[in-house]
Amino acid sequence: MRGCYVALEGVEGAGKSTVGRAVAARLRKRGFDVVEVREPGGTPLGEEIRRLLLHADEMTPWAEAMLFAAQRAQLVAEVVAPALEDGAWVVSDRSYYSSLAYQGDARGLGVEAVRKVNEYAVGGVVPDLVVVLDVDPGRGLARQGDVDRIGGQGLEFQRRVAEAYHRLAEAEPSRVVVVTADAGPDELAEQVVALAEARCG
Ligand code: TMP
Repeated sequence: MRGCYVALEGVEGAGKSTVGRAVAARLRKRGFDVVEVREPGGTPLGEEIRRLLLHADEMTPWAEAMLFAAQRAQLVAEVVAPALEDGAWVVSDRSYYSSLAYQGDARGLGVEAVRKVNEYAVGGVVPDLVVVLDVDPGRGLARQGDVDRIGGQGLEFQRRVAEAYHRLAEAEPSRVVVVTADAGPDELAEQVVALAEARCG
C-alpha cells in the first residue's frame, strides 16, 4: 500500500518543525514507518542548494523559484517517492505549497506559473495533506530563530505569505487545511494526525 505524504506549512516562526517532529513521533508510536524531510534540503544536493537559497547575496525571483524546484525534484526522486512506494509516511517540513505561497504569490511570480514549474519537478508526487499552521505573522517573526535571506524580507512580505496560504486553502479545501496554531505542539500534532488519517486512511 502506498504511504501518506503530509506537509506542514506556515509563515516564519509558526512552529512547523516542532509540530512535525511530534507528528512523526505519534505516527511511529502507532507502528507506522515514518520518513521526516525538510525543504529546502533533505538530500546532499538539496542541502547545498539550501545554503545558496538562504544565504546568497543576489538572486532574482525566478532563479529562487527554480532552485526551490530543483531541490524538490531531487528530494522527491531520492527520498519521498521511494518512501511512499514502500508504504511509509512522509512528514515534510514545507513543500511545493511553500513555493506557491512565497514565490508564486508573495514574490509575485504568479501561482499558476510556479505551479507549472513544480509540476515538472515533482511529476505528480504532491502532498496528500497540507496543514498550514496559522500564526499572526508579527508574532511568528518575533519567534523566528536564525534570520535568513527570505525570512528577513519583513512583516509585509510575511503577511502576503499568510494571505496566500489562506487563498490556497480556499482553492483546494480537501488537500490544504489551515489550523490555528495557538495550542501546544502535542495538541497540534494530534489534530494533524487525525486530519491525515481521514485523508489517507
Ligand atoms: P525554513 O525557515 O522553514 O527552514 O524555510 C526556509 C525559508 O525558505 C523560509 O523563509 C521559507 C522559504 N521557502 C520558500 O520561499 N519557498 C519554498 O518553496 C520553500 C520550501 C521555502
